[in-house]
Amino acid sequence: MIITIDGPSGAGKGTISQLLAERIGAELLDSGALYRLVALVSLRRGIAVSDIAELTAQARKLDVQFLAGGQGVQVLLEGQDVSRAIREEQVGMQASQVAAIAQVREALLQRQRDFAMAKNLVADGRDMGTTVFPDADYKFFLTASAEARAGRRYQQLLGRGESVDMDALIRDIRDRDERDQSRSSSPLRPANDAILVDSTDMGIDQVLQFVLDRLDID
Ligand code: C5P
Repeated sequence: MIITIDGPSGAGKGTISQLLAERIGAELLDSGALYRLVALVSLRRGIAVSDIAELTAQARKLDVQFLAGGQGVQVLLEGQDVSRAIREEQVGMQASQVAAIAQVREALLQRQRDFAMAKNLVADGRDMGTTVFPDADYKFFLTASAEARAGRRYQQLLGRGESVDMDALIRDIRDRDERDQSRSSSPLRPANDAILVDSTDMGIDQVLQFVLDRLDID
């Protein structure tokens, strides 16, 4: 069984996907982490986003491991734990630029589809239901207003002791939405057969229950 959860940045896909995967005993594909890894490599090695050939080569040879553990999934790049580094704001912004490059998306496609070998899979991203797993058993599209998403991010960053500016967060979220929705390669949009969930006024438990209620499982 494949369940896809797509939607814009900060809609809570990561949290819901992780909880859902734990609840139903499924593997988790955090596709955003792959784009973030390419972004991290490009920032660390000083590869410009205009250098499509080099970025594509890096995406193709990405040496990544996802290790499931008690604290969620640990992300290793060339054996080094980069779980925190890839969540930084700067990396997220770079990821949304890298993700607009069709060749980079193509280079990461098979790597994502390989996750379908799992008995059950929850796939979290922007194009899971449209491009990567168009035949998924269940597709959800999770949204929330830009303000609500920025507010959640604000709390998350404060919790980590990082300094944050709410206006800058809203601006970043809108920029990222714009880039994700307007790119020509796999733009962010709900699959025709996706179930829409607007979580602006919903808590995590409510969203999780909404999703679980729609699954035909014991
Ligand atoms: O979901 P997350 O914020 O970690 O993703 C980082 C960036 O990667 C997003 O801003 C988006 O531009 C891109 N992305 C994508 N397609 C996916 C997953 C993420 O374009 N399936």
